[in-house]
Amino acid sequence: MSATTWVAHDRDRSWTCASPSQEAIEFHRALPGYAPTRLVDLPSLAEELGVGRVVAKDESSRLGLPAFKALGASWAVHRALRDLPDEGPRVIVTATDGNHGRAVARFSRLLGHRARIVVPPGVHPSAIQAIRDEGAEVSAVGGTYDDAVADASRLAEEIGGVLVQDTAWVGYEQIPGWIVEGYATLFAEADEQLAGSGITHPDLVLVPAGVGSLLQAALAHYRGDRAVLGTVVASVEPEAAACMGPSLLAGEAVTVPTGVTIMAGLNCGTPSSLAWPYIVNGLDAAIAVSDEDDIRAAHDLADLGVLAGPCGGAGLAAARLALTGPGSAERRRHLGVGPDSTVLLVITEGADANPLPGRET
Ligand SMILES: Cc1ncc(COP(=O)(O)O)c(C=O)c1O
Repeated sequence: MSATTWVAHDRDRSWTCASPSQEAIEFHRALPGYAPTRLVDLPSLAEELGVGRVVAKDESSRLGLPAFKALGASWAVHRALRDLPDEGPRVIVTATDGNHGRAVARFSRLLGHRARIVVPPGVHPSAIQAIRDEGAEVSAVGGTYDDAVADASRLAEEIGGVLVQDTAWVGYEQIPGWIVEGYATLFAEADEQLAGSGITHPDLVLVPAGVGSLLQAALAHYRGDRAVLGTVVASVEPEAAACMGPSLLAGEAVTVPTGVTIMAGLNCGTPSSLAWPYIVNGLDAAIAVSDEDDIRAAHDLADLGVLAGPCGGAGLAAARLALTGPGSAERRRHLGVGPDSTVLLVITEGADANPLPGRET
């Protein structure tokens, strides 16, 4: 195991923050076609991992799109435009590694606006086509995801567009904050679904992380002043773009060079500035997984009826890495996981969002 494959983070476990606002979930509930995504019980995985229950929150169909990103984009586009004077159609701009751009394009169109989407290399052609099919103009640029974010920010300024980006940096935090608020709906739904079977909170949640906005939503939810405390949260990233573990080790958000991974949505080298305080105070472990383990996990989930895309397999790959194999007794102790624990996997995208390569093992 490399130094950043598993990073245990010791923190003050009594730390809390403000719970996410209820406004976004009320907005989502009023959208046409809204329904909570399903929470699937996976008893064979519980047995394999030596825990009481494994449940998967399946985001493969969310507001008509194949990833959770629709939650953030819908609320942030609505919220950003609500405050602006009504001067006719506007141009909404964002950079994306696929899912966010498609969701921004969809909700811009539905609200009568145009979208310009900037895409770095490595995004699957079918994901780019899906964005174009929403009527958006797509610019493919060189460099990394971080470079594409900088390009989108410049473009928005040049054309007087509205940047709706799903990562924050100092001086650009309000709109990413609304995106995070939108994501929190997913965890609120999971609580209600677990409560239906008498469980007040999951013991361990594995959250796929790119820039960490979804992770921020998870941490705001589980560390929030309305939460039942006691949930341990771990981030999951590809080995090729693991910035959370190195940031925890450095004690500050650091940028790591990114490589090539099938988990395109997680191929980000810098934690969001808005997410970082939540991560450093609220995250319990950072896990990095290989593409090979991720593909195997996604295929195993598919065999169990959960059609996960590449990012969707990451949680199971990380659960296997953390909870089984040599050294797992110590990792389980750190995570507080035992034979009665409930583990929540967040399946952030379906196979329709990004194609899944064939099984490598
Ligand atoms: C499918 C999928 N999962 C997870 C993530 C990670 O979200 P975040 O960048 O907020 O950490 C993304 C981001 O693009 C994604 O598309």
